[in-house]
Amino acid sequence: MRYPKECVLKECQEVVIRPLARDDEPLLLQFFNEIPEADRWYMRYDVTDIGVIKKWFEHIDSDTVDSIIALSGDRIVGHGSLHVRGFGSTRHVGRFRIVIHPEFRLQRLGTWLTLDLIQLAMDKGLEILRTDLVAGIEDVAIDAVRKLDFVKRAEIRDYARDPEGNHHDLVVMIKRLHRGWGDF
Ligand SMILES: CC(C)(COP(=O)(O)OP(=O)(O)OC[C@H]1O[C@@H](n2cnc3c(N)ncnc32)[C@H](O)[C@@H]1OP(=O)(O)O)[C@@H](O)C(=O)NCCC(=O)NCCS
Repeated sequence: MRYPKECVLKECQEVVIRPLARDDEPLLLQFFNEIPEADRWYMRYDVTDIGVIKKWFEHIDSDTVDSIIALSGDRIVGHGSLHVRGFGSTRHVGRFRIVIHPEFRLQRLGTWLTLDLIQLAMDKGLEILRTDLVAGIEDVAIDAVRKLDFVKRAEIRDYARDPEGNHHDLVVMIKRLHRGWGDF
């Protein structure tokens, strides 16, 4: 993948996509602080915790996580991460997650970042891409990845809880990867 990559969004805003870099820490913290709590609840980490973000940057060169960001000027407006185990029975599987700043949603930025993570996963030789999403809460993301050829491979009933304590099903969305886009 050639970075930095310029993209023009639906409303003609220009954003630049590139890998997360060492000195992006303050920008990333600011970005996550502007993500609504209701969205952050479903992430695996408390990304407003400075300790969590510091740890990410300490391991920025790790082989198990790749992060890409979208910038509008010097503001981060989107973040995507691809996680691999690098060992054992699921070393051929990647997991990913995307978050877009509310002001930049519905302009295809989530799709751009997802496509880049799919390409990155293919470049790494992964065979399966997986994302776990909460039914009834993250339906937009479920529909969006379905359009990119992900299929629902499992549903764990009443697995996730919302902040009010209500249970929701967790949906496991899977995409089988090919060696190149031409193999579709
Ligand atoms: C889910 C999320 C990443 C989508 O990002 P986005 O940049 O708004 O998505 P896009 O503009 O690329 O839209 C992708 C598709 O979803 C649809 N979509 C996006 N938001 C929508 C909404 N609120 N209502 C209806 N459809 C919506 C778009 O119309 C588009 O469909 P199309 O290709 O047929 O036009 C973003 O809403 C977000 O960050 N949500 C909170 C965190 C989250 O749920 N992350 C998902 C974990 S992978």
